[in-house]
Parts: sequence; C-alpha cells; structure tokens
Amino acid sequence: MRVTYQPEYERRIRLCAIGCGGHAQRNIFPTYQYAPVDLVAVCDLDRSRAEACARMWGPAAVYTDHREMLEREQPDAVVIVTNYDAEGRPRYPVLAMDVMRQGAHAWIEKPPAASSDEILQMMAVSRETGKFVGVGFKKMFAPANRKAKEILSRPEFGPLSSLTARYPQPLPPPEDRADSRKTVGFLDHIVHPYSVIHYLGGPIESLYVERNDRTGASITSIRFTSGAVGSLHLAHGSSGMSPLERTELVGRGANVVVENNLRVTYYRPGGPEGGYGRAGTFYADEEKAPLFWEPEFSLGQLYNKGLFLLGYAPEILYFCDCVLENRPPEVGSLDDALEILRIYEAYCRTENPKLLPREGG
Ligand SMILES: NC(=O)c1ccc[n+]([C@@H]2O[C@H](COP(=O)([O-])OP(=O)(O)OC[C@H]3O[C@@H](n4cnc5c(N)ncnc54)[C@H](O)[C@@H]3O)[C@@H](O)[C@H]2O)c1
Repeated sequence: MRVTYQPEYERRIRLCAIGCGGHAQRNIFPTYQYAPVDLVAVCDLDRSRAEACARMWGPAAVYTDHREMLEREQPDAVVIVTNYDAEGRPRYPVLAMDVMRQGAHAWIEKPPAASSDEILQMMAVSRETGKFVGVGFKKMFAPANRKAKEILSRPEFGPLSSLTARYPQPLPPPEDRADSRKTVGFLDHIVHPYSVIHYLGGPIESLYVERNDRTGASITSIRFTSGAVGSLHLAHGSSGMSPLERTELVGRGANVVVENNLRVTYYRPGGPEGGYGRAGTFYADEEKAPLFWEPEFSLGQLYNKGLFLLGYAPEILYFCDCVLENRPPEVGSLDDALEILRIYEAYCRTENPKLLPREGG
C-alpha cells in the first residue's frame, strides 16, 4: 500500500461529514490527510462541535441540519459518525437513507444498525437510488488481519479448518437482551470480533453460547457454512492492561496467529526432520521456519501510526476508491453488516443463541 497525501490527488470527492464527536475528531477527520477528498461541509447537532471541526479540518461550511447540508452542498459522498438515540439504537440507517436519496454515497461507522431489518431497508434504498453504503468495520482493514487473510488464501495453507478469537466484552443476561437500551454496550462492541471472524471465516451457520452468569464472560462455539469450526472467547474480566485480541486460524498443517492486531506469525507447513524420537534439532530447515511480522516503532513512517494499524485510514481510502470508481464496496459492505447483525440478533433472541436461517435466502 503506497499512500498519497490529500493535496497530491488529481481527482477528489466532494465530501460532507455528519457527526463531529469524539471518535470523528480523533480517528476519522485525520484520515482525510491521505484521502482524495475536498471536505466541503460538516454537520453536528451541536454547532460548537461542527465549528471546531470546520476550523481544524476545513475550510468547510457548518450545519446543524443534515438535510439542509445535503440539499445545499450536493456532495458525492457523506461520512456519518453519529451516536445512539434514546432507545440505544444507532442513527445510521435513517441518515444513510437520507444521504442516498439525496444522490450521494454514504459511509457509516459501526454499529451500522440495531437490527438486520434496518440493514435490509438500507439495501433497498441502495438498489432504488444506485448509491451505496460503506460500513466502518475497521478490523477488516487492519493490515495485520489483511495479512492473515492473504495467508489464508495461499494453497499451501489449505482450507480453513478452525478459528479462535478473543475479545473482552460482557454478554448481557438473557432477561436484558430484548431491551436495546440494555444491549447497547454489547452491540457497540460485538461487531468488532465478528467483523474479524466473518472476514476471515466467512458466513456462519450456527452458534452455541455458554455464559458465566456471575461475570457475563462467555464462550461461543461457531460452525461456519464452509464446515470450519471456531470459537469466540468474550473474555470479560481481563485486565485493562492486557491486549484485547488474539486470533488464530488453522488450515491443513499450517496456522497463523494475529496478536494484539499487530504481530502476525505464520507457522508454515512442515515439521522437524528425523521423526519422533530421532529429530535432534528443531532449527534445521529455513523453508519451514515460521514467518513473523511486527512493525518497527522507530521511524516516522505511516505504517507505525494507529490511524493505519487499526484500519481507519485504509477503510476510508477504500471507500473513497469505491466512490471514485462508482463500485459498491466488497469489504465493509451492507452484506457484511447483514451477517453481523444476524449474529447480534441471534445472541439477543435466545438464551443459548442458535443462529437462525436468514429469511428470504
Ligand atoms: N471504530 C471505532 O474504533 C470506534 C471507536 C469509537 C467510536 N466509534 C463509533 O463512532 C460513533 C460515534 O462515537 P463517538 O464516541 O464519537 O460519539 P459522540 O457522542 O462523541 O459523537 C457523536 C456526534 O454525533 C452528533 N449527532 C448525532 N446525531 C446527529 C445528527 N442527526 N446530525 C448531526 N450530528 C449528529 C452528536 O451531536 C455528537 O456530536 C459511534 O457509532 C461509535 O460506536 C467507533
């Protein structure tokens, strides 16, 4: 990935932003330094936030009403980074549909919606208008996970046999799971591990969950439609000083481990020579030696920035490419969002979630 700085692009997108809160200011506006965009206007219900962003990332016009902004500015695309309504539901579906109906493509942060139904509604408006929605599943764009995916596609790795993932997050008790205000924290976070699991493992056929009723920690057994199996350890109770994530993929005689979204180890096919009871050294054959990547943290390189390592800049750059080429995203798509919301709903619906088949195929 070779990065271009914003002023160097010849073609740029006329971009508007809805939502100028904490996350947008910390992690999304800064990505525009590397994106083919002209940020023409920003909008927040809180004018002072919109003004602060216009000052920092503009020149950009300031609005507090997104409909007025869309009408006046006629953007090519709109990046939406808003929060939850009083019911604990993400505001993205309504806003994204407004954007598409005004003739622009939309990029929305996670979680994209509180139900698969709302994703289907966005899909319908996308078909109606010919405009598309990109979804901020940043982990699908994190370079370490992309490396794991590339390794997974190598013939020598074999088909995925099993996958394990870890993420610290409590699962609410069954009696709270029908109330969107009580599941908002779960919805906010569960999309992260499942975006990685979905990205690497593909569609899921069934889930079975065991929950520690004292702490809310849980283990989920997963069966993928490919036949591969997996597990998600929602490791609530971990120390705040601990890395959050560890993902391992096992193929046929090979495995890859992603630790802390950063370190990738590829254990290539092979083993020590000589046979059991005879092999005198483990250090012989370099062609079978594990491969290991970890960024150096000495140089002022873009790859050392959290903006790149966590996937923020890559996800926005990818969306901008899609807009410039007028092709819907294949990664971070509404199809991905639908799968992930179906999984969230499976957790919410039943005591021991079993993923329900999607209605209408
Ligand atoms: N991907 C990540 O790593 C990550 C990290 C943090 C937050 N997020 C997500 O980012 C989103 C925002 O989180 P935050 O912490 O910045 O929230 P926030 O409350 O700080 O900011 C949200 C902003 O949206 C504005 N807003 C709401 N409705 C609006 C509307 N109709 N028109 C214009 N402005 C509107 C609010 O006034 C507020 O300023 C959430 O969806 C959250 O889950 C993602």
